[in-house]
Amino acid sequence: MTAATDDRTEDAGGTAGDEAEEAPVRSRKNGLYPALSDELAEVMKSGWDDTELHDLLPAEQSAYAAKRRAALSERFPGERLVVPAGRLKTRANDCDYPFRPSSEYVHLTGDQSENAVLVLEPRAGGGHEAAVYLLPRSDRENGEFWLDGQGELWVGRRHSLTEAEALLGLPTRDVRKVVAELAATADEQPAPTRVLRSHDAELEAALAEHTTKHGDEELRVFLSELRLVKDEWEIGQLQAACDATANGFTDVVRELAQAVATSERWIEGTFFRRARVEGNDVGYGTICAAGAHATTLHWVRNDGPVRPGELLLLDAGVETHTLYTADVTRTLPIDGAFNALQRRIYDAVYDAQEAGIAAVRPGARYRDFHEAAQRVLTERLIEWGLLEGPLERALELALQRRWTLHGTGHMLGLEVHDCAHARTEEYVDCVLEPGMVLTVEPGLYFQADDLTVPEEYRGIGVRIEDDILVTADGNRNLSAGLPRTADGIESWMSGLRG
Ligand code: GLY
Ligand code: MN
Repeated sequence: MTAATDDRTEDAGGTAGDEAEEAPVRSRKNGLYPALSDELAEVMKSGWDDTELHDLLPAEQSAYAAKRRAALSERFPGERLVVPAGRLKTRANDCDYPFRPSSEYVHLTGDQSENAVLVLEPRAGGGHEAAVYLLPRSDRENGEFWLDGQGELWVGRRHSLTEAEALLGLPTRDVRKVVAELAATADEQPAPTRVLRSHDAELEAALAEHTTKHGDEELRVFLSELRLVKDEWEIGQLQAACDATANGFTDVVRELAQAVATSERWIEGTFFRRARVEGNDVGYGTICAAGAHATTLHWVRNDGPVRPGELLLLDAGVETHTLYTADVTRTLPIDGAFNALQRRIYDAVYDAQEAGIAAVRPGARYRDFHEAAQRVLTERLIEWGLLEGPLERALELALQRRWTLHGTGHMLGLEVHDCAHARTEEYVDCVLEPGMVLTVEPGLYFQADDLTVPEEYRGIGVRIEDDILVTADGNRNLSAGLPRTADGIESWMSGLRG
């Protein structure tokens, strides 16, 4: 990797004119160029073609984002609302972590720019004027485009403010002026200001004297609840995420022999390649858990061996280019065939998932799918002699949790655990509505050191997870592209491995 600020010296800004003071300066020790000559600074200013893009049409999601902003405006009349995308986070020196904008900002704008801010300014006559503050194209006059680590010659072309305005269907402004403009309007037209916190500490600090934190949590909660019911465009994105995820699982099965020869990391890399080619990224750290690692719920170290005869629990999701993620789990026999005990445990989890999926329909309580799945698992645990009955008593005490461990699902969308800030009555205590998307993911996990189960159970973990859309008359499994029954898994694997 080339050092982004190799060329920037402390005097580079000085030689490139007054404007340079506005450009971010990240001086770096040990650059190979000690100084920038006036002649070079001058020569770099000109000789560049005009690449402005004209006649851009609004992006597909812009109309949906406008509806979401209208709902936000209606909920907080007369108030100034500030929703940041978040900032780049330095990894080391002039290298940053990959950027992922806040889900709230993406949901309300369809944009993914770093350091951006959405502002809804209350209008005197009611409603709000929305504007997005963005970093414009890099300045050629002050040298920012090639001397700064965030200049376009280092990180790639950005949209001009005019281009972004056409794509987003929203007025755009220079983000370097956001604090001054917010401060000026706060003085001229005082209004309660709510800021979505925890995404942009620098912005929060700069606005400190113009804002209180009063009511900010309410804004966060509202924006989380605004995502509970997905619109048709979002459902299309989640379907695309599931389809790409199915391709990723297929890749993994095709490459299982290489994983056996190496480690769980091969599986992680295989799925990641598909996620980056068909989407933006993985939606969360891929869980590649072979053998007893399957009993660790969020096993993301992925550094263990992959052994024939054992199971592989793969929990993975592709995040689309628009940042919607799938969340799918399949538990696969590494050598292609379940043994009798693996199949018995697998079938119990499958039956629990079937019961859970059947309980997902409009008008049902959110908790119903969880309770239906837990009932089946508890019945089986009693049947196998691992748990004492009667069933109702065991369920009342939730004794099955020693082996089922987690809740049976969660909302899904722009985040893997979506809508996390919604009020309890709107989420776990809600009644399901068409457009909600949730995972149904029961599991059974027998830890390697669990002395309360027969030895042959120890080290076996099974989870099956699908992404379920609530429809007008029931549900649709968005991840149905992958087989789920034990027989279906075996024949799918055998077809892929030849
Ligand atoms: N896929 C990980 C989880 O749902 O926690
Ligand atoms: Mn999940």
